[in-house]
Amino acid sequence: MPKNLTFFLALLSFVLPAASQQDGFSYIGFRRGDANSSNISLNGVAEIEDSGILQLTNETSRLIGHAFYPDRLQFKNATDGAAFSFSTAFAFAAVPEYPALGGHGLAFVIAPSKELQGALPSQYLGLLNANDVGNFSNHVFAVEFDTVQDFEFGDINDNHVGIDINNLVSNASTTVAYYGYDGKKNNISLKAGHTLQAWVDYDGVGKVLNVTVSPFSTKPPRPLLSFPVWDPGFSYISKEYQLYGAYLILM
Ligand SMILES: *[C@@H]1O[C@H](CO)[C@@H](O)[C@H](O)[C@H]1NC(C)=O
Ligand SMILES: *[C@@H]1O[C@H](CO)[C@@H](O)[C@H](O)[C@H]1NC(C)=O
Ligand SMILES: *[C@@H]1O[C@H](CO)[C@@H](O)[C@H](O)[C@H]1NC(C)=O
Ligand SMILES: *[C@@H]1O[C@H](CO)[C@@H](O)[C@H](O)[C@H]1NC(C)=O
Ligand SMILES: *[C@@H]1O[C@H](CO)[C@@H](O)[C@H](O)[C@H]1NC(C)=O
Ligand SMILES: *[C@@H]1O[C@H](CO)[C@@H](O)[C@H](O)[C@H]1NC(C)=O
Ligand SMILES: *[C@@H]1O[C@H](CO)[C@@H](O)[C@H](O)[C@H]1NC(C)=O
Ligand SMILES: *[C@@H]1O[C@H](CO)[C@@H](O)[C@H](O)[C@H]1NC(C)=O
Repeated sequence: MPKNLTFFLALLSFVLPAASQQDGFSYIGFRRGDANSSNISLNGVAEIEDSGILQLTNETSRLIGHAFYPDRLQFKNATDGAAFSFSTAFAFAAVPEYPALGGHGLAFVIAPSKELQGALPSQYLGLLNANDVGNFSNHVFAVEFDTVQDFEFGDINDNHVGIDINNLVSNASTTVAYYGYDGKKNNISLKAGHTLQAWVDYDGVGKVLNVTVSPFSTKPPRPLLSFPVWDPGFSYISKEYQLYGAYLILM
């Protein structure tokens, strides 16, 4: 029996610098009407629950659920093509049908389309497929939260967070954990069913991407992953090209 985690998203915010002339967005919980009013764009099996939570997938295997902010966002300076700084925070939970059984993962994504046509579930995380994995033409940037060790993509274990640029082979990955104020690193289990908060911050000047995760709503004093990303992938595309911020999942 393969299975299974149900992925939920409870809140989401995204901020671009004032200089980019956009101020980002924030969802403090979700409302069923949001999808109808084009306030959020859902596809696959994603749906908004009466409780105000966004359910991306359920316990059935091999499902995909996408939830995207509906408007394009400008991630690059139209003059020099440099990627802008951005920050996002979101609360999510992966609730197992049976404790300790997993599958598969969730990802924060920046992509050129809201449909990600041809994307496959399971190890492809609803992002890519066997034909386009690794191609620069994907322009897909993702931070994955993965509960399965896929040897095909060199996964380090079945409880990791990774930075993925056009590929499911992560550019950087590490076991999910957070740093306490005492400097100690504390492991977190993605499959435990707890609500976790994640922060993804990109410094477009210093070209460093930080990923921070916590079982609490306050941001830990230091990031879990701090990785130099000279080119988040989307800067290959034309200067005018804009992208969608998203969340995604899959089992
Ligand atoms: C875009 O790049 C140009 C040239 O480097 C710079 O003058 C301008 O301030 C940048 N705009 C933003 C919004 O960062
Ligand atoms: C969604 O719509 C509601 C009411 O129309 C608004 O208050 C909220 O800010 C919108 N959320 C986003 C992310 O646009
Ligand atoms: C949203 O649209 C769906 C399908 O079109 C409909 O079944 C549902 O009642 C609508 N929900 C709200 C809150 O308008
Ligand atoms: C999960 O959602 C799919 C698509 O809506 C549905 O066919 C399936 O029955 C659901 N599985 C469970 C366990 O609710
Ligand atoms: C991805 O790159 C491979 C190797 O160059 C190529 O064969 C394949 O057609 C590309 N796939 C897509 C979807 O562009
Ligand atoms: C945290 O997880 C890593 C990787 O699985 C493991 O090597 C380490 O022993 C764990 N640390 C603790 C304190 O459990
Ligand atoms: C990333 O983390 C480093 C180390 O804590 C910090 O110095 C830097 O300001 C952070 N950058 C962003 C964009 O959060
Ligand atoms: C990420 O990995 C891809 C190949 O897997 C590589 O082409 C790219 O240069 C890497 N990017 C960074 C920022 O390390």
